[in-house]
Amino acid sequence: MNNIIEIKDLTKKFNQKKAVDNLSLNIKQGEIFGLIGPDGAGKTTTLRILSGIMLPSSGRISVLGFSLPDDAEAVKEHIGYMCQKFNLYIDLTVNENINFFADLFLISRTVLEKRIQPLMEMTRLGPFRKRLAGDLSGGMKQKLALICTLIHRPKVLFLDEPTTGVDPVSRRDFWRILHNILLEGVTILVSTPYMDEAEWCNRIGLVFNGRMLSIATPHNLKKDLKSIVVEVPADVKITKGMVRDVPGLMDYQLLGEKHHIILRDEAGLNRLKNMAAHKDRIRIVPPTVEDVFINTIKESRK
Ligand SMILES: Nc1ncnc2c1ncn2[C@@H]1O[C@H](COP(=O)(O)OP(=O)(O)OP(=O)(O)O)[C@@H](O)[C@H]1O
Ligand SMILES: [Mg+2]
Repeated sequence: MNNIIEIKDLTKKFNQKKAVDNLSLNIKQGEIFGLIGPDGAGKTTTLRILSGIMLPSSGRISVLGFSLPDDAEAVKEHIGYMCQKFNLYIDLTVNENINFFADLFLISRTVLEKRIQPLMEMTRLGPFRKRLAGDLSGGMKQKLALICTLIHRPKVLFLDEPTTGVDPVSRRDFWRILHNILLEGVTILVSTPYMDEAEWCNRIGLVFNGRMLSIATPHNLKKDLKSIVVEVPADVKITKGMVRDVPGLMDYQLLGEKHHIILRDEAGLNRLKNMAAHKDRIRIVPPTVEDVFINTIKESRK
């Protein structure tokens, strides 16, 4: 399969600060790729550059065979970009917002109605077509924004944190819709700060401080983690001060009912077992994407 997006050594500087630092990534047709990272990681900057609305400082980019930034205008009619901030008209209805976007892309009302029908079913926004966009719930606003991004039938979608601030049920709903869109052969690059959303992506890239720390399938990312993730119930007397001296300690957190500890290797595990009076209550658990992320950041600082 061909790469639909190719990014080589992309860097974006604001003054002297690198918001995106030497980032390289290839995405194949039909993939859903997640750009995962915390605030300020460089997700928005990357997506803006790929959508042709921001100039890179250096690097080579190709989207659908168009070279950016030179062919930015030409690529725009083939891609859909949903920005992080809700940018629809809150004092227009759902219908009026959709019509506005259709007019921008010179789509006739007859063609529009045909295209809208399946999207309305998919998003279940049909009954709300006459409601003001400003009166929609957070999740519905994001679905409307997605519809507006889709009506010109883009081949590639760039979605910037579409689920941020959306309740967990609507978030699942939104990801299901994205998977429906994938079935039509669209390629999706989506950013999110929520590590648990990694599972919805074919592959993910962990970004931090503008750098791509790792690219893999969610499964491989977790499988390849060399460190050990340990859980101990909170009632077992372990304190932050005590674990500080455990060899190879990568991370320690008290999460509600359990101590969650990441260790570089078995050596630390034995020390931990000797420390707690209840060895049998120390449990090695499968890592989450968040564990991998914390581990990767710590390793990258060594
Ligand atoms: N126009 C700008 N001028 C100066 N600095 C900027 C500009 N845009 C972004 N930055 C800086 O670049 C870095 C990356 O920002 P970016 O918005 O791309 O991150 P992000 O991963 O999208 O974060 P968030 O999750 O908060 O949306 C940050 O340090 C930010 O302050
Ligand atoms: Mg952002």
